[in-house]
Amino acid sequence: MDPVKVGVLGLGTVGGGTVNVLQRNAEEIARRAGRGIVVTHAAARDLNKPRICSTDGITLTTDPKEVVEDPDVAIVVELIGGDTLALDLVMRAIENGKHVVTANKALIAKHGNEIFAAAQAKGVIVAFEAAVAGGIPIIKAIREGLAGNQIEWLAGIINGTGNFILTEMRDKGRDFDDVLKEAQALGYAEADPEFDVEGIDAAHKLTILASIAFGIPLQFDAAFTEGITKITREDVTYAEELGYRIKHLGVSRRTDKGVELRVHPTLIPERRLIANVDGVMNAVLVQGDAVGPTLYYGAGAGDEPTASAVVADVVDVVRVLTSDPENRVPHLAFQPDSLSDLPILKMEDVETAYYLRMQVKDEPGVLADVTRILGDKGISIEAIIQKEPEGDATQASVIMLTHKVVEKQMDEAIKQIESLKTITGEVTRIRMENLDAS
Ligand code: HSE
Repeated sequence: MDPVKVGVLGLGTVGGGTVNVLQRNAEEIARRAGRGIVVTHAAARDLNKPRICSTDGITLTTDPKEVVEDPDVAIVVELIGGDTLALDLVMRAIENGKHVVTANKALIAKHGNEIFAAAQAKGVIVAFEAAVAGGIPIIKAIREGLAGNQIEWLAGIINGTGNFILTEMRDKGRDFDDVLKEAQALGYAEADPEFDVEGIDAAHKLTILASIAFGIPLQFDAAFTEGITKITREDVTYAEELGYRIKHLGVSRRTDKGVELRVHPTLIPERRLIANVDGVMNAVLVQGDAVGPTLYYGAGAGDEPTASAVVADVVDVVRVLTSDPENRVPHLAFQPDSLSDLPILKMEDVETAYYLRMQVKDEPGVLADVTRILGDKGISIEAIIQKEPEGDATQASVIMLTHKVVEKQMDEAIKQIESLKTITGEVTRIRMENLDAS
């Protein structure tokens, strides 16, 4: 049988890694797929730029449209990112009857519903394993491996850059910007690093995970997103004193009222495996009703880890090229006409525990005022520490851990606490998850 011809859009970090893996492991991959797979076409913005891969035998162009229009190309691998040109190219590839493999989380989170509908109408596959958690096969695990379960919740460290920054700040006391620059140099960071540090990239990925876990349409606009830019070294230290680590988590949970879809820094008990996932590594914890808790761990970014997921998708496509499209695994794991209308919960209706840090005047009655406000809102305190003012300072830091409460109640309590004359500045709030499987 002739080899399947692949066109790659984008020859940057992931594109270069994909060509390398397909070339280096060609023989083994052909044994798995049942057919050879060759990259015959590729598009790159600048053809003179040095590459991490060899382009021998590949027809190169600066115009990605040429690749999606080429009748020889059976599978288009979209690795240019963004959701404007990428959307046009993917839709055109589908129209032309080509299968698509993409690592583009923004594209899938924002336009996946439309893309999958077009793909279904055309009987082609759009595969996106590399869009979530880099090399970890989490899409396949949830969509196929856990298909017998009702997924109850999932929580993940799904942005490698953010986790790398938090780890380096904690372990080496390094400066935020300095670590971010290193993540950019290593090819981990998004073109716009705000996507990493403000949680947008993680929200794209969580949106996709929630859809395949709960069988709901992709609803990126409903995700609550908070980044890591406000986390200070003090918060990291105080959390550790209390037995917790701060991780940037994406959390999605099915409740009676709807689906939680939220990304924010989170205190996690330090004994949890996921609390010890460091550097650019990602991990996703999935709780199914039958299997219980399961944890998936691996590199969340980088050329070949991401290429590993891209190539696995290409192999999957090749394996089913001759089979009946109706019987393929549905894009969002559930049949398109069986998606549920379970609503996404507003953040104010979500219930979590909290870490609070505030600067207080070191004088009698201050703590009583704070605890009264919390008590009036039905918020119960689990632990409290006070750090005395250092040197000539007159402000003490008070750190509290609370039991679970609905976010709306906490919003109101924080507002009242911040209006006290004895409190300086804003109250720092970090949500806490016990991630207890029972
Ligand atoms: N910027 C992303 C990250 C790349 O750091 O996780 C992988 O999606």
